[in-house]
Formats: sequence, C-alpha cells, structure tokens
Amino acid sequence: MIFGIETSCDETACAIVRDGREVLASAVATQIAKHAAHGGVVPELAAREHLEALDVVAEEAFRTAGVGPESIDAVAVTNGPGLMPALLVGVSYAKGLAVNWGRPLIGCNHFMAHIYGAFLHDDGYLLLTRKETYPILALVVSGGHSSLVLIEEDGKATHLGCTIDDAAGEALDKGSKLLGLGYPGGPAIQKAAAGGDVKRYHFPRPLTGTAGKALALEHQYNFSFSGVKTALLYQVREARETNADTKSDFIRDISASYQEAIVDVLSRKAIKAARDFNAHTVVVAGGVACNGELRRRMQQLIPPSMLLRLAEPRFCTDNAAMVGGLGYYYFRDGVFSPLSLDAFARLPKISRVPFAAVAQ
Ligand code: KG4
Ligand code: ZN
Repeated sequence: MIFGIETSCDETACAIVRDGREVLASAVATQIAKHAAHGGVVPELAAREHLEALDVVAEEAFRTAGVGPESIDAVAVTNGPGLMPALLVGVSYAKGLAVNWGRPLIGCNHFMAHIYGAFLHDDGYLLLTRKETYPILALVVSGGHSSLVLIEEDGKATHLGCTIDDAAGEALDKGSKLLGLGYPGGPAIQKAAAGGDVKRYHFPRPLTGTAGKALALEHQYNFSFSGVKTALLYQVREARETNADTKSDFIRDISASYQEAIVDVLSRKAIKAARDFNAHTVVVAGGVACNGELRRRMQQLIPPSMLLRLAEPRFCTDNAAMVGGLGYYYFRDGVFSPLSLDAFARLPKISRVPFAAVAQ
C-alpha cells in the first residue's frame, strides 16, 4: 500500500494505492482560484498553499481509504519535473512521513506518473503485464509537456520528440488569457468552443510539413505551439481593430478554430508515431488529455489494430494516485530513495519505465 504525494504545480494531492492498481483514495485540493487572478501559476504562492493544504489532504485520503498510517508500506512523492518551490514542499513532507512512519521513501518522475495514470482504471494493470500491449506510444500533454514516448515490453523508453517551445496546455492557457476566458485555459476554451466553426479562422499546423516546405526529419515527432499562439494574438488584434470581435460567435468560433489547430497536430503526430513504430497501444495522458475534442479525434483516428488508452479525466490532471501507482513498481523492486532526495525542475531524458511485461 503506497501513500502518494503530488505537489509539482497547483494541485495538492495525496493518494493511497494498493499494488499499483487499486486506488483506495485520491484526494486533490486545487489552488486554481488562488492563481486565477494572476492568469497563471505563481510558484511561491503554490508552495505556500501546498504547505497549508497537505495535512488536510493527507487526512482526507486516510478517511476515504478507511486505513491508517500503519497500513502504509512506502511513501512515494513527485520530486520533478515541476515548479521547484512547489516540489520542495511535497518532498520535505514525504521525508517527514517516511521517517515518522519508519517506511521507505520513493521519488517519482511526474511525467512518467502521468503515463502510468492511463493504466489506473479498469484492467490497465493487467494490460501492462501482457507482451501484446507493447510497444506503447504515449502522448503526454499537459501544462508543462507535449511529448511522444515509446515504451517497449522490457520497460525501455525512448523520447521520440517534444515541444520545442510552448506545451499544448500552455498554449491553451495563454490563448485563453488572451481571449479573456480565464485560467485554466484548456477547459475554458473547450467550453467556449462548443458548437463553434473550426474553419472560420485560420491557424498554422506547425511542424507538420504543411506550411509549403518539407518537414525536417528531426522535427517529425516534435511540436511547436508558440506560433499558433502568436497567430491568435494577431487574429484577436485584427478583430478588435475592425470591431469584428463584437460580432456574435466571435469567441466561440475563434476558440473552436484555435483548439482545433492544437488537437489536429497532437492527434496526427501521435498516430503517425504509433504507425511508424508499430505501436500496439496508444496512450493519451496529462491534463490536456481531458479535452473532449482530443479524445474524440483519437478515437476516430486510431487504427483498428491498435488499442487506445485515454487516461480517465480524474487521472489526467495532476493527482497523487498516478504517483502512488507508479511508486508500487519501485517498492516491488526494492528501489528506494535516500532521505537526501532532491527535487528537479526540468524533465531528464527518460530511458526506462519501472513497469514492463517481461523481466528486465
Ligand atoms: O497535468 P496537469 O494537471 O498539470 C501539468 O502537469 O501541467 O495539466 C494542466 C493543463 C493545463 O494547461 C490545462 O489548461 C489543461 O491541462 N487542461 C485541459 C483540459 N483540462 C485541463 N486542456 C484542454 N482541455 C481540457 N478539458
Ligand atoms: Zn502534470
């Protein structure tokens, strides 16, 4: 039974997960309202809020799970990547619990935990034990990442590509701010775009080779969303100058067109990578995986020979169940972190994941 802790951004979360598959509790306290006034997450404010919320969220997890600290076998905590001040609060808290409870500490990679989040529901755990599930192509899309990762049956992981500027969630958050739709931008844009005309406004499809020049091979699995965001800025400016922004359906159609540009690129590149590497399973994880349009598009595009694993919405956005779930594999293998465990801000190159179908 692993106690998971997550404080890498603006969600304070604690979870209790048994054997990497049974989520007994997944408590999340969001700070969204606290950061909304700033139009984005303020790291120091996030750290202060985590400090205040952790005890309450931990208690909630125990209450929901109906077990006490004596049942916990290890404490798993996200120690990166993320906002440094926010991460440090969770890591220190985890160390305190580990010492207090006399249990081992396990540092977990947040990005990897997001991928594992797609296997926390239904028979996900069983799927991971089967060779036929692999290779897995994972599209990880959140406020901090837009990446394609290939995972083989022995746990070998290859980072095929990532964004060279803004992450998809970041582009949605910044776009939403520009349109005056608030924070977080992904859900706000999705709501505003409902029923909108996705073709009314033109947005580029960066790094897809459709801009009139051939796509450089090194960018075939990379993303770029800052140009789409700049295109939005220009469209909004032009609309304001000509008063077109006051016309009915402006916000709806421009939101729909903007969201479509992002969903189109993410889905096409994920499917292309899955085909190129003969993936048997395609995973979509991270906060942006909550997006209804992205989920629908992936369902439409997935070839019949491949299995699509969309993370359940509650395991898409930041949560600790994915951390407690991933932590199980390190516990099983006796891989623990020292009490000097440090936090790290940036995503390191991932070469292995701890779950695999065959012995490593
Ligand atoms: O995984 P997450 O909670 O935190 C990070 O690790 O970054 O992802 C947060 C991101 C935000 O950018 C948010 O706008 C986006 O996920 N998001 C969505 C939706 N819900 C959350 N994006 C698109 N559609 C949604 N429904
Ligand atoms: Zn995240």
